[in-house]
Amino acid sequence: MPKSTSRSDSPLPGGVRFEEGPKGFRRLAIHGSDAEARIYLHGAQVAHFRPHRGARDHPLLFMSRQSCFDTGQPIRGGVPVIFPWFGSRRDTPSAPAHGLARIREWALESATQTSDGAIAVTLVLEPDEGFRSAWPFDFLLRYRVEVGAALTMALEVTNRSPQCIRFEEALHTYFAVSDIRHVTVDGLHGPYVDTVGGRRDLKEHGPGPIHFEAETDRIYPGHRSRAVIRDPAWERYIVVEKSGSDATVLWNPWAVKARAMPDFGDDEWPSMLCIETGNVGDQAVSLPPGQIHRMQAVIHAEEASGNAPS
Ligand code: BG6
Repeated sequence: MPKSTSRSDSPLPGGVRFEEGPKGFRRLAIHGSDAEARIYLHGAQVAHFRPHRGARDHPLLFMSRQSCFDTGQPIRGGVPVIFPWFGSRRDTPSAPAHGLARIREWALESATQTSDGAIAVTLVLEPDEGFRSAWPFDFLLRYRVEVGAALTMALEVTNRSPQCIRFEEALHTYFAVSDIRHVTVDGLHGPYVDTVGGRRDLKEHGPGPIHFEAETDRIYPGHRSRAVIRDPAWERYIVVEKSGSDATVLWNPWAVKARAMPDFGDDEWPSMLCIETGNVGDQAVSLPPGQIHRMQAVIHAEEASGNAPS
């Protein structure tokens, strides 16, 4: 079990408690009036979210049954918080992929009930010695997760360094779907960078929905609007809205890459789809000293029999 801290001496609000997950990893279990959720201190990772209405009884987030729960390793599924680099680090390929925030223990700063009955949890991360030796800047990450009818995740980066810092970040959201081969995504059109197989090919997707027929790994630079997952078999839509994010990443490993991932079941790829709210690549954030950057993703589900979100 990793060491973890709580900065908050206040009691947890009703419906929120600490519990032990696999291998003793501590997590907050939240049973709110509109939804249930689980959030690990490891990586501040939201690992489960199911609203009481709109989701047709399926969780919104995918979690791999083969995820390892080991210190220094990421959890496979939910919403890994990616910071301060995305993918492999260009100048140091041996550095952990997707940065260090997802493999650090975060501290609970507060857990409260909002005026509309949602539960709001705030977790914080400051750089330890190991973090600073890999990325020599001072910062504070503050991550507020609100569990209501929607899941609202807001990541704030404060630059505490005397110089400007440049970083990438993403809320690497794994959505649960009935079968990737039968779902479509609306709202992601225009130019994208196809990164399948380590390439960086510039391509373009027209105005229609995206269908999935093979490994998909794309960065949509300049994408600032909503995306909608349409899942007819589960009779629901998932809507992803965001702010402070200038790029969206779309990913499914498909069969061959899934087999190469030790912490992911060979047969799990049809059950997930990542739509990642981020600032990556040329959209990395430059933040002057003392400034705060805020990026937010809001996800909710709607039953397919209702009005289709556009
Ligand atoms: C996605 C990347 O964001 O994350 C993919 O676009 C990558 O290229 C995937 O394979 C998973 O990364 P990891 O480090 O969690 O295995």
